[in-house]
Amino acid sequence: MVGQIIDGKAIATKKKRELSQTVDGLKKEGVTPGLAVILVGNDPASQTYVRNKQKACVEIGMHSELIQYDETITEEFLLNTIAELNEDKNIHGILVQLPLPNHINPNKVIKSIDPRKDVDGFHPYNVGKLVIGEESFVPCTPLGIIEMLEEIGFDLTGKHAVVIGRSTIVGKPMGQLLLNKNATVTYCHSKTKDLPSITRQADLLISAIGQPYEITADYVKEGAVVIDVGMNRNEHGKLCGDVLFDEVKQKASYITPVPGGVGPMTITMLLANTVKAAKL
Ligand code: GUN
Repeated sequence: MVGQIIDGKAIATKKKRELSQTVDGLKKEGVTPGLAVILVGNDPASQTYVRNKQKACVEIGMHSELIQYDETITEEFLLNTIAELNEDKNIHGILVQLPLPNHINPNKVIKSIDPRKDVDGFHPYNVGKLVIGEESFVPCTPLGIIEMLEEIGFDLTGKHAVVIGRSTIVGKPMGQLLLNKNATVTYCHSKTKDLPSITRQADLLISAIGQPYEITADYVKEGAVVIDVGMNRNEHGKLCGDVLFDEVKQKASYITPVPGGVGPMTITMLLANTVKAAKL
C-alpha cells in the first residue's frame, strides 16, 4: 500500500479562510479577537514559532501583541504582566511560549493565566475539563491532529491508537482526546520496552518523540494512519519529522509530511482557540 499524504497546509488554509470570515463578523459587532504572545529569552526555535503565530494572526485580521523579555526577568515580573493581560479587554488569548528559563516555574506561570484566556489549553482547569469530557480549551497540536483525522473521515471508535510521547503539550492531551472519541489508547515513552512491538499494533500511530527518522517501516502496521509531530533538524540542518517518510509511506494508508503536516494545523488551532475565546 502507498499511503495518501494528509496535506496539513491545505487543511489549515481552508480552516483559516473560515476563521477569517468569523473574525470579520466579530469585528462588525465591535470585537477584534486579540492574542498576546509572551516570549522570554532568545531561543531561536521559539522565536521562529512565535513569529509564525503572529503572522497567522495578522493574516486572518486578528489583533496580536508580542511581548518580549530578556531571559533574566524575574518570575514575579512575568506574573505581573500576565495579571495585566488577564484584565485587558482587547486581549482574549494569552500564550506564554515554552520553554521558560530554568528560574521560572512554568506551572506557576500557566496557573496565573485566566482559564478563559488560556488558548494553549495548559491551565489545570482546562486540562481537568478535557479529562471529564467537558467543552474546554484544548492544546493546539492535538486539536489540529483531530481536525486532520476528521478531514480524512477516520472513525476512531474501537481503533487502537498508539501515542509516542507523554508531554503536557502533545502526548497526554492527545491520548485523552482519542479516548474521548472511543479509541483504545496506548501511551509509549522513553522508558517503554520494545517500542516497535507496540507500535506495530497501532491502527493510528502518533509520534511526538523529537528524534529524526526514528520511526521506520518496521514500527508500522500495513494500512496504519501515521501522524508525525516531530520538528527536528537532520544532520544537514534540514527540518524533518520523527518518521522516515519515504519508507513508511509505502506501508501506511495515510501519512503526514514534515514540513506541511501537523505544524500548520497547530498554528491554525491557536487562531481557532483565540476566536473561540473572543466569542465567549
Ligand atoms: N512550545 C512548543 N510548543 C508550544 C505550544 O504549543 N505552546 C506554547 N506556549 N509553547 C510551546
